[in-house]
Amino acid sequence: MHFISRRDFVRMGVSTVAAGTVIKSTLLQPSTLLAQSASGSAAGQPIRFVSIGTGIRGCDLLRSARKVPKGVLVGTADLYDMHGKAGVEAYGADVPTTRDYRTLLDRKDVDAVIVAVADHQHRRVILDCIAAGKDVYCEKPMSHNVADGLAMVAAVQSGKRIFQAGSQRVSNTVYKKAAEIYASGRLGEVHYIEGHSDRNSPSGAWVYPIAPDASPETIDWKTWLRDAPDRPFDAVRFFRWRCFADYGEGVAGDLFVHLLSGIQCISGMNTIPSRAYSSGSLTHFNDGRDFPDLLSTTYDYSGVTVNLHCNQNNAAGEPIIFYGREATMMINGNTLTVTPQYTAPQPEGYSLNGWTSEMKKKYMDEWHAAHPEPPAKLPDVETFSAPPGYDDTADHIVNFFRAVETREHVVEDEVFGNNAAIACHMGNHSYFHRNIATWDAANQVIKG
Ligand SMILES: NC(=O)c1ccc[n+]([C@@H]2O[C@H](COP(=O)([O-])OP(=O)(O)OC[C@H]3O[C@@H](n4cnc5c(N)ncnc54)[C@H](O)[C@@H]3O)[C@@H](O)[C@H]2O)c1
Repeated sequence: MHFISRRDFVRMGVSTVAAGTVIKSTLLQPSTLLAQSASGSAAGQPIRFVSIGTGIRGCDLLRSARKVPKGVLVGTADLYDMHGKAGVEAYGADVPTTRDYRTLLDRKDVDAVIVAVADHQHRRVILDCIAAGKDVYCEKPMSHNVADGLAMVAAVQSGKRIFQAGSQRVSNTVYKKAAEIYASGRLGEVHYIEGHSDRNSPSGAWVYPIAPDASPETIDWKTWLRDAPDRPFDAVRFFRWRCFADYGEGVAGDLFVHLLSGIQCISGMNTIPSRAYSSGSLTHFNDGRDFPDLLSTTYDYSGVTVNLHCNQNNAAGEPIIFYGREATMMINGNTLTVTPQYTAPQPEGYSLNGWTSEMKKKYMDEWHAAHPEPPAKLPDVETFSAPPGYDDTADHIVNFFRAVETREHVVEDEVFGNNAAIACHMGNHSYFHRNIATWDAANQVIKG
């Protein structure tokens, strides 16, 4: 631990602290290497895994998986030839790649599968993996709709498989520290949590480029559509699927899910909210997409209101803020800041403005007589940061492989992932139905 100046602190992107405030700063260690040794490390049997879906995220996962010696990639599958090649390149080993993932699931030498296909395919791919007896890491959001998520939970549980959803913040060393602080009670009562995930660029609104070689010859379009409504080949839908309700869930499924997963793991509120109310609009990116480019949702959890927004028209970062009676805790990127609230007793000030001098003096004399001790010092502001270049996806993969080996549950298991995904679906339900969405737990459906 070391002490830093306010100027350093502001450079780190934390600017809400008063001049003269003492800031204690701690650099956290990534848990990757520690977790490796705790699980018997790369020694012992390696975990042989395959990757299904090696597009944007699938390639990033494979780049992170290279840092985790416990796992050995033995094959990949993708419906688009260029993505198939990119996946092999990302991992840097010459493994077979196929368009038909079922041939990988037939292999007896495969223990686990990393799935990073578009959301509308999650259910079918995961169910096939479970039926083949494989453990699965499934990208977020776990489900495309409530029915898909419930079917996936049932399959994982009856198949007794390890399942991890892919919101990597749940394994982030900064989030672990935040969970520890939250559980310690240091924030006092927390009744309000806020988070947002804002961007201001075409890429941030998923206006991704169309690769020049994209065609019905290089992409198996019919299989990509699978259960979605049939339509002629459409490269815009293939590359920008997040914009369309047949395949994605807009900002809720893409971005709220990370905020919600972070909030679930830090607060321990691993449940479905009872209500969600959304408003928003589609303005700047009104390019034929189904989803709003601004969504703001207020969720009711037991005793806690959670307010999230995602604005694709202003880049104000991605903080999550926990407002406690004793302290405010904010995570911004890979830095966590705990700013204590001043809660020591103080004499009333403002409301005495309407009192006479004589009456004020009497009040102050009595107050100081009742509080003879010197006022308590405000505790220091504290920050905790991950080291530069920290890769929480590598830590998330470590946790998955460890569970595959030990058969112990991961934090972000099928129930956790399903809860976060249902909250996303409730946010969209409220926006599109222009109504408050409620979770009907008895019937396992969203109403409203
Ligand atoms: N955790 C994160 O930070 C993060 C970041 C980005 C994306 N994601 C998630 O990862 C998943 C993939 O997103 P992406 O951006 O990589 O999309 P993408 O379109 O770039 O890649 C998906 C790939 O899956 C392939 N695919 C689809 N169905 C398939 C099937 N049946 N068999 C084989 N391949 C199939 C497609 O051909 C495509 O190449 C989504 O669920 C998304 O929400 C997570």
